[in-house]
Amino acid sequence: MPSASVQEFLHDLLQQLGPACLKTDPSLISGHLVDWRGRYQGRASAVLFPDSTQQVAQMVRLASKHRVGLVPQGGNTGLTGASVPDDSGEQLVLSLSRLQAIRAVDQANKTMTLEAGVTLAKAQEQAEALGLLFPLTLPSRGSATIGGNLATNCGGTAVLRYGNARALCLGLEVVTASGDIWSGLRGLRKDNTGYDLRDLFIGSEGTLGVITAAVLALSPRPAALMTALAKVSSVESAVGLLGLAQSKAAAQLTGFELMTWSSLDLVSQYFPALAQPIKGMGSADLVLLEISSPSGEAEAVALLEDILSRALEAKLVEDALVAQSIQQAQTFWDIRDHITLASSEDGHQIKHDIGLPISCIPEFMTAMRQELQDLLPGVRIINFGHIGDGNLHYNVACPVRPESWADRGQRQKACADFMHAHEDEIHRRVHDRVVSLGGSISAEHGLGVMRRDEAAYYKGPVEIGLMRAIKISLDPLNILNPGKVVLV
Ligand code: MLT
Ligand code: ZN
Repeated sequence: MPSASVQEFLHDLLQQLGPACLKTDPSLISGHLVDWRGRYQGRASAVLFPDSTQQVAQMVRLASKHRVGLVPQGGNTGLTGASVPDDSGEQLVLSLSRLQAIRAVDQANKTMTLEAGVTLAKAQEQAEALGLLFPLTLPSRGSATIGGNLATNCGGTAVLRYGNARALCLGLEVVTASGDIWSGLRGLRKDNTGYDLRDLFIGSEGTLGVITAAVLALSPRPAALMTALAKVSSVESAVGLLGLAQSKAAAQLTGFELMTWSSLDLVSQYFPALAQPIKGMGSADLVLLEISSPSGEAEAVALLEDILSRALEAKLVEDALVAQSIQQAQTFWDIRDHITLASSEDGHQIKHDIGLPISCIPEFMTAMRQELQDLLPGVRIINFGHIGDGNLHYNVACPVRPESWADRGQRQKACADFMHAHEDEIHRRVHDRVVSLGGSISAEHGLGVMRRDEAAYYKGPVEIGLMRAIKISLDPLNILNPGKVVLV
């Protein structure tokens, strides 16, 4: 039974906005209470579905009046538990999924103004219809929403060329914790008029305000995007290949992703048809390179071939496969995009989202592998990600038990048991090493609840004190996504 304040909130909400603005049926709301990996299970008596910014503002005003915590939620594709309620049953989910409007497009200014619930895939299609490119891209683009992308300042696979979500947003509309509406929907590339509120709300994971709409910056659309896979014998070679590719392709290098053998092996096991193109490459670590070309496919292929033949000569690469068509280029991305899905099919892993100076990555990987193998012999390191940005998803999974691995239930139980037994120690070891090398414990996924305490541990009192001061000043009643990012 929810507390009296939650009941009074729901009563007032129904009076003001009617029954269409919320759902309470457990079978209809259960998917909103757990993250997609099934790692964070919360409780809530209702999910709110505002259909406009004004309704969001009304809901936040009521939440403030009754002191009820609201958890803003977009596509619920996050990886740190930021978009699900805690297990108190006292918080309510505020879904932005009905805010679907394309409010404006400005072709000459290369901008479009979208509401928060528009999916990333739809935003990309809208840009394409204008003959332009919205370059942010993620494996979860079909469900992830623009509001969530900005609230988490997500990264993805095109950061190397275009920057992360923050770099692609010019203006915001935000409902503040007092239920006011800040209309900052400016399509300006230069606006130096005091504190940058837009940058404060981006990446705040719904703890400072609710993003309801945004002005997104678009880019010219390249005539072609082509990919290649390069087999590397070491991470030093991958870093060397990055330098070579950047020196030859400069800004035309739009993607540079590492897929170690252990991550490719999971795709081969759980999505064998997708892994078909890499069958002949052996048990090797691969780099996926993507090149964009303003003139067409042939130029992109020629540039990739030039880079790879130099890399073969310099012994940075042992073998390579250049896509010969846009369709084949997409099949290489499909392998990359399915690593997380294959991982989740395998079972829980101890996940990390680390950022390192690129120069430190080889040292990190060699020393960390040794340390983890000494600690837990046979442990699997599922390491992949945006090595071109210095961002790796350095995930740790339990050793395979051949006798029970084919049985999904037993496998998933073994993975979950391993995670619960070793998560804290492995996080500490990985993060200690990352921080000692000048790195970050969350390069693109944010803090949510998963990394909140780790961040407090590593950031120290001054930085955390400043973050708390901002939170308290913008949300003094702690209404917005309480318990996420920083504790107050
Ligand atoms: C990715 O790069 O695939 C995403 O960040 C998801 C993940 O880390 O699992
Ligand atoms: Zn990623």
